[in-house]
Amino acid sequence: MDLILPILRKEHKKHGYLSEDILKKISKKTKVPVSRLYAVATFYTMLHTEKQGKNIIEICGSPSCYLNGELDLENFLEKELNIEFGQTTKDKKISLYKTSCIGCCDKAPAMLLNGKAITNLTKEKVKTILKKCRS
Ligand code: FES
Repeated sequence: MDLILPILRKEHKKHGYLSEDILKKISKKTKVPVSRLYAVATFYTMLHTEKQGKNIIEICGSPSCYLNGELDLENFLEKELNIEFGQTTKDKKISLYKTSCIGCCDKAPAMLLNGKAITNLTKEKVKTILKKCRS
C-alpha cells in the first residue's frame, strides 16, 4: 500500500488523469481494490479522476490568500469561465480548482497555473492569464 501514491502519480502524469480503466489496470497489477485506489485518487487534490483541460488553474484558498482578496478572485474566475470549481470549460482549455497553501503567502493571493506559481494576483492579472490560456 505504501507504493500506491507514487504509482498513481506516475500514471496520472502519463495520462493526465486517472480514469476508471486506468485504475482497474493498476488494481490488476497491484492487487489493491479499485475502490481503495479511487479513494486515494480522490483524496489528493493533485490527482484527478476526470480528463483535465489544457490549462489547470488552482487558486489558493488558505488564510493569507483568503485575507488578501482570494474570495473575490474565486467569484471572478467562476464568472469569467462560466464554470464552478472542480469543472472544466466546454472548450476544454481550462480546469479550475482550489488548493491549499502553495508557499507563496508573502505574495498573496496566489495560484498555480499548470503547476507554476503566479503571485500578487489581481483581477487584471487574472484576466491576462485567462486570455493566454484561451489563445
Ligand atoms: S496562503 Fe496562499 S500561498 Fe500560502
